Parts: sequence; structure tokens; C-alpha cells
Amino acid sequence: MTRTGSIHETPVVRAGITIPGIHRLATYRAEGGYQALRQALAMDPPEVIGIVTDSGLTGRGGANFPTGRKWRAVLEAPGAATAVVNGDESEPGSFKDREMMETLPHRVLEGALIAAHAVRATALVVFIRGEYDLARERMLAAIDEARADGIIGGWMPLDVTLHRSAGAYICGEETALIEALEGERPMPRGKPPYPAVSGLHGLPTLVNNVETLANVPAIVARGAAWYRTLGTPDAPGTRVFSLSGNVRHPGNYECVLGTRLSDLIEGLGGGVPGDRPIKAVIPGGTSSPVLTARQLDVALTPAALTRAGSMLGTAAVIVYDDTTCMVDVAANLSLFYRDESCGKCTPCREGTFLFHAILTRIENGLGRPDDLERLEQICHYIPGESLCALGDAAVAPVASTLKHFRGEYLTHIREGRCPVRRQHEVAGQCFPVIHAT
Ligand SMILES: Cc1cc2nc3c(=O)[nH]c(=O)nc-3n(C[C@H](O)[C@H](O)[C@H](O)COP(=O)(O)O)c2cc1C
Ligand code: SF4
Repeated sequence: MTRTGSIHETPVVRAGITIPGIHRLATYRAEGGYQALRQALAMDPPEVIGIVTDSGLTGRGGANFPTGRKWRAVLEAPGAATAVVNGDESEPGSFKDREMMETLPHRVLEGALIAAHAVRATALVVFIRGEYDLARERMLAAIDEARADGIIGGWMPLDVTLHRSAGAYICGEETALIEALEGERPMPRGKPPYPAVSGLHGLPTLVNNVETLANVPAIVARGAAWYRTLGTPDAPGTRVFSLSGNVRHPGNYECVLGTRLSDLIEGLGGGVPGDRPIKAVIPGGTSSPVLTARQLDVALTPAALTRAGSMLGTAAVIVYDDTTCMVDVAANLSLFYRDESCGKCTPCREGTFLFHAILTRIENGLGRPDDLERLEQICHYIPGESLCALGDAAVAPVASTLKHFRGEYLTHIREGRCPVRRQHEVAGQCFPVIHAT
């Protein structure tokens, strides 16, 4: 891979992130904060939705759904709507929403208030991952400051609350999140009806990711045409990439969509420590299939990554160097998905359990000749047969490592040992490296 040096960040949601005290209302307003909310409040809701639709903004929570279309569905559904900020962020490798809420809580709040106005919501809920203490503190302080300043209550008479999540990955799935808000065990609901029509207490509910909402003030202030000058025609705007694993400079980087994966890793991440070769990359959080070193020239857009056999998902990029055992990666991630499956659907509940059991025995040198066939059968049975996307997500690391690194699996089974650990003399269990800053 060549070093480029040409890549740069394009801060939209992260604009001003290094300004001291930007998490406080006075500083945020001095930098132009809440002017977009004023502009939006001077417009009718359909006009605001028109701008967001024209901008081409899509959801940054993983599903890439068009934001304007979702807002319109909520606005048109009968009943008093609630808007929800989804700050549950529990996908391994993803730490972008945490940084946004910790450093720019007023931008998240401003985007959420514009969304609430656009769907005529009477309530706004900020739903935060249980372990995110500083993010919770900063979002609460932002809500208090906005209330004291008259932004909440004066400019916008709506009820704003913060909900601390119980700390399970499934709580971020929008219908499980709604169950949690209703005081129930967080298990996904069947869809349809979608939350836009029937969500919290059976009323229209808008659920948007933190980063999605943080894009909204800039779009309203600068216009849809400006936003479309960023990114590509089919994927406008930027994404915040959480870069981790075997890179010199892990962290969050905001780049235009369409940036090359290799440029992100080399140009901003500084490449692999020790200049070791890259073996594999997860481009969109652990729910996205792994890519190999031969696929690093891919553009970071949803369509290009789908063509490459993966997905952009949460844009959490995890780099693995040549000392990584990919069976170990799959086994480690299977433990996460086994533990996080809510157990409501049989294929996901039993499949994630079996994935972990089989992968662990292969990794421990006790694999059986028909184990790969069994793994493939489970990979075949889960997708499309589960209520939510966690089932499909659990399949991604197993199916993609089997596809690209089958020889590594076979050596584990035939020789009862790890070829990678032996070759590189990596001590102990070679667990994958996932940094969370
Ligand atoms: C298991 C699971 C966990 C999820 N966790 C989150 C999360 O933490 N944050 C988030 O924004 N979306 C999460 N999602 C996606 C949400 O269901 C939903 O699509 C998203 O919040 C919609 O917001 P957006 O359109 O702005 O992306 C998760 C989905 C699944 C299946
Ligand atoms: S797919 Fe898995 S996590 Fe999702 S509802 Fe079914 S059992 Fe629960």
C-alpha cells in the first residue's frame, strides 16, 4: 500500500471540537451555535424536512436509512410524536457518538431539537449507554443550560429527558430501546409497524443516531446544496470513522464519504506499527464482514462496500496485521454476540451459542473434521430468520473469515494448532486488538 499524504479531515459534525469549553453553552453560542435552530423554528416542519431530504443525509447508526424520509413518516403519522437521540453505541470498535456527546453535546442537542420541531414532537428523550458517564454528565449539563437559557421551554415548549441505558448492545436497536423506555425488558419488536408510526406507547417515534442529528445544524444553516458538495453523489456528506486495531494513531477521523480505506489507514492512522503488512480490515463495526489486504483500495461509501462484500455500518474501522489469527478474531466476536443476543429468536439464540462453542474448540486445537460445514450451515440459517439485525451481524465475522481465511481454519483443525501464532511467535492467546479511546 502506498502512503498518500493527500488525505485530510473535513469537520462538519466535529467542527470546533478542539475549542476549549465548546461543551458549554456560552462557548457553543459564541461559535454560532443554536442559530440553525432559530432558522429552523422560523420554518414550517415540512420545509425543514425538505432541506434534510434534499441534503441526502442518511442514518449514521448503521442502517443508512434516508433521514428526511423517516422524519416525514413521523410527521404524517397520527398522534403526539416523541423524538429519541440514540446514544447507546455498543458496537465493538465504535466510539464516535461517545466523543460527540462528551465534547459537543450542544450540537447533538441542537440537531435533536431541530428534528423534534420537524416532526412536531412533544417530547425528546436522550438515550445513553449505561457506561458512558462523562457523556451523560455533559448531555445533562447541556439540557440544563438550554433550559435555563430559555431554548428549551421558551423557544421550544417540549419535555426533554435523559435515559441511562442498562448497558446491553441490544438496547441500541430502536424497538428494544423503546421497550426499555417503557420499562420492559429490552427485546426487539417485530416490524412493521415501524416506530415512525407506532413506537413509544404506540405513538409515532423518531429514533435517530447521535451523529445523524449532529449533521443537522450545519445542513439547516448552510443548505442542502452545500452538503451535497461533500462526499459522492450517491453518498453525500462525511462520516466519523472510529479507527482502531493495529494502527499507529487510533482515533476518530471525520472524512468525506468516498475516502479510500487505504488513505484513511495510512494517511490519518499512520499505518501499521512496525510497518507490518495488513492482513484484514473490518470497515463498518464488527457487524460488517472483514475485507482482505487486497481490498483496501475500496471507497468508503455504502454502495462500494456492499459491492466489496461488506458494509459501511457504523464506520468503525478495525485493522488487523499479519500476526492476527482470524479464527481467534471470529471466536472472540462470537463470544460478544452470544452474550448480547437477547434470546427472543431461536436461530440467533442457538446459532450464536453454537458459533462460540465450535469456534472455541477449533481455536483450542480440538476442532472436528465437519466443523466448518456446521459453521456454514449456521451461517445459512440465521440471516433473514431473526427479528433484528443482531442475528445477521453475528454471522458476518464467521462467514467472512471462513470465506477469506479458510486455510487458517483448516490448519487449526488438521494440525491442532494456530499457524499464525507459530509463525510469528505471538505469545498466548492472540486476541484481536480493539482500542476504545
Ligand atoms: C443490535 C443493534 C444495536 C444497535 N445499536 C445502535 C446504537 O447504539 N446506536 C444507534 O444509533 N443505532 C443503533 N442501532 C440501529 C437502530 O436500530 C436504528 O436503526 C438507528 O438508531 C436509527 O438512527 P439513524 O437512522 O439516525 O441511523 C442498532 C441496531 C441493532 C440491530
Ligand atoms: S435476532 Fe437475536 S438479538 Fe435480535 S431479537 Fe432475535 S434473538 Fe434477540
